[in-house]
Amino acid sequence: MQWIEIMGGRPLQGTIRPAAAKNSVLPLLAATLLCDGPCRLTDVPRLRDVDTSLALLHAVGGRAWRCGKDIQTRPVITLNGEIPPELAGAMRGSVFYLAPLLYRVGRVSMPLPGGCHLGPRPVDIHLAGLAAMGAQVEEQKDRILLRRSGSLHAADFTLRLPSVGATLTLMMAACLAAGTTVLRGVACEPEIEDTAMFLNACGGCITGAGTPVLIIRGQQQLWGASHTALPDRIAAATYAAGAAVAGGTVCIQHCRPAHFESFWQMLRNAGCEVEVQRDAVTVTRDPAKGLRGGMELYTAAYPELATDTAPLAAAVLLGAHGPSVIRDGLFQNRFACADGFARMGADVVRKGRALGIAGDARLHGAEVEAPDLRGGAALVVAALAADGKVRVRDEGHIRRGYAHLAADFDALGADCRETWAK
Ligand code: EPU
Repeated sequence: MQWIEIMGGRPLQGTIRPAAAKNSVLPLLAATLLCDGPCRLTDVPRLRDVDTSLALLHAVGGRAWRCGKDIQTRPVITLNGEIPPELAGAMRGSVFYLAPLLYRVGRVSMPLPGGCHLGPRPVDIHLAGLAAMGAQVEEQKDRILLRRSGSLHAADFTLRLPSVGATLTLMMAACLAAGTTVLRGVACEPEIEDTAMFLNACGGCITGAGTPVLIIRGQQQLWGASHTALPDRIAAATYAAGAAVAGGTVCIQHCRPAHFESFWQMLRNAGCEVEVQRDAVTVTRDPAKGLRGGMELYTAAYPELATDTAPLAAAVLLGAHGPSVIRDGLFQNRFACADGFARMGADVVRKGRALGIAGDARLHGAEVEAPDLRGGAALVVAALAADGKVRVRDEGHIRRGYAHLAADFDALGADCRETWAK
């Protein structure tokens, strides 16, 4: 069991560079199975979800290994389509293997994917899109079976909502399907554009990434490519939220500030100074001055405020002056971290998908539990302002998305460390 211990009350100062985005690396790793040539993903962080994805790739017969900071893959002729339950259940990213294995093996058996318990996370859009391309889909009680006879074919398919995962699944499938596929109502998140760039570098023909309509001309074959995934915008937001909560100045370098304009706006409205450059952002909050609350925030699909930043925004607003409310438009259980906030002395109320925050909280030391990845990070961020020691108990959620969150904040001047105990 991992614990993160934080003695709050120290302002942050310094520069930090976010790692490559987990939510790009996971589809990229799966997409390497589509390729008939070697691939290299550079500067891949040592995250638990990346390790799980590598284990899954090995379990189906793929070849991939870490080479210093990179991951190198080699094409394999014979793969199997049986995804082991413990790997499927360990992360949502297991769903990215559906399309590549269906293409390679012709038959996939996948137990339902796991991931953070954010509420129901169906895969109906992935399956409906694959069926429109000619896959036979069988949903059993606890697993999905996919088959194809012959190649998949192009389709004109409208997603019933802009699911990030389903957009990635269908984009991967369409790259090697016969004909030109049109996908409408797709997600526009930067991770889609990043994966499309990789697939195009491998010989794919995808246009429209970053817009609601993707046009994909199916190819006979994809070769390999070398690719650096885009910087993690949620990790960048986590460091920025830390600066807002603790006070001080943090410069986040080599990030893409344009990818999270709504989060910067929230910090500015709260009274932080946010200086945006082309590939860096500096967040300053005078420790002698308080933050302003009184906000009503909504999360929605990109480019709106990202659902993954909702718990971080909440951590910023706990001690801000005036009541705020955050509604999550994507997941029913985004605010499981509310219990931890309350244990630290915050006055918060969960109502359906919304979190009400009374504001003006004086947080104190407590022992809390990370309920999920972003909720766990938000507890660490909130603790930076607590008077006394906060211990965040984590059974591994935080490490799924941050390689060394405690060390990152410690390097920025917080008193923050990771310990291991039963
Ligand atoms: N949905 C369906 N049917 C589907 C697919 C999605 O109803 O077939 C619903 C979901 O239940 C949810 C909404 O659509 O209510 C959005 O889900 P989406 O498919 O967009 O999310 P995802 O692909 O499951 C990814 C990230 C999440 C991030 C969301 C939204 C990965 C591995 N996960 O999930 O990241 O919150 O997009 O941006 O890429 C995280 O990193 O902690 C995390 C949860």
